[in-house]
Amino acid sequence: MQDFTGKVAVITGGASGVGRSLAFALGRRGARIVVGDVDEAAMQDIDQALAAEGIEARVAHCDVTSVASLESLANVASEHFGGVQLVFANAGIGAGESGAMWDYSEKDWQWCFNVNIWGVINSIRVFMPRLIAANEPAHFVVTGSGNGALLVFPDAPIYTASKAAVHAITENLHYQVQAAQSPVKVSALFPGPHVVETGLFNSGRVRPEALKKEVEGNASGISSVEDMKRMAAEYGIELQTTHPDEVAAMALAGLEQDAFWLLATTPETDEKIRARAEMILNRTTPVPAMVGG
Ligand SMILES: NC(=O)c1ccc[n+]([C@@H]2O[C@H](COP(=O)([O-])OP(=O)(O)OC[C@H]3O[C@@H](n4cnc5c(N)ncnc54)[C@H](O)[C@@H]3O)[C@@H](O)[C@H]2O)c1
Repeated sequence: MQDFTGKVAVITGGASGVGRSLAFALGRRGARIVVGDVDEAAMQDIDQALAAEGIEARVAHCDVTSVASLESLANVASEHFGGVQLVFANAGIGAGESGAMWDYSEKDWQWCFNVNIWGVINSIRVFMPRLIAANEPAHFVVTGSGNGALLVFPDAPIYTASKAAVHAITENLHYQVQAAQSPVKVSALFPGPHVVETGLFNSGRVRPEALKKEVEGNASGISSVEDMKRMAAEYGIELQTTHPDEVAAMALAGLEQDAFWLLATTPETDEKIRARAEMILNRTTPVPAMVGG
């Protein structure tokens, strides 16, 4: 898709972080924006900020764990703007894991899988039939993570498992759309190349009441990118970070080329991916890769 002017972009989890940057980047390129999110304060903020820039947008409450909620988001898009040409299944949370997975609360697994996996499945089930029926050039973009899709960092098993599933779903969606000879393109967005400065490490702010931890508190001790930097420094590692605007710019550049992989890596990350492939081919016992690089 070379020209975003006049296109309608739906972004789930669009009120913060990567989704927010996508909203502005697309809006500045002339797209009309529909943001769905559950964080009311952040929604109000982006609503005003988009309007202040003169970007045509609608911000609506949308919980991706609910098909009905996504259907009403789709209706907001069609009622205000007609069809949809860009869908970003982007909403996601970090489960804030720490310690041994056999001690995790069942609610930690449920919350993360509900948002990260079911959120993507629900978004596909609501928006793909609409995009396929429109039979015009469109993009369905799923935000995954290198942690799960490409590598297995050892400190966030629930998140990693969710993103492994998300990648399998995204790649299959691409194959199916291709087989259907549809003009709809599927892309896998990997925020990076470094840890991205977003609210992901403070996802507890939007954790639903029914899935609250039995024992309160963020067990991992990390609730911001700053905390991550501090913890990395304790191990002598200087953690580099990426601004979400860079992720949005990378994503749009890839979409212009109809690319499947919206993926920016560093030489260090490439080496980790290569080492992982070698490890599998050589049947070497896994050793944990570290975040960073
Ligand atoms: N930050 C990183 O380093 C990084 C790295 C790889 C992948 N990602 C992925 O990027 C995506 C965006 O996350 P981010 O880093 O911008 O974090 P973020 O917390 O800044 O943004 C995520 C947004 O999703 C919303 N959200 C949470 N639960 C929701 C629900 N049930 N329904 C609708 N919206 C919901 C939040 O309110 C928030 O606005 C996620 O899928 C995340 O896994 C982030």
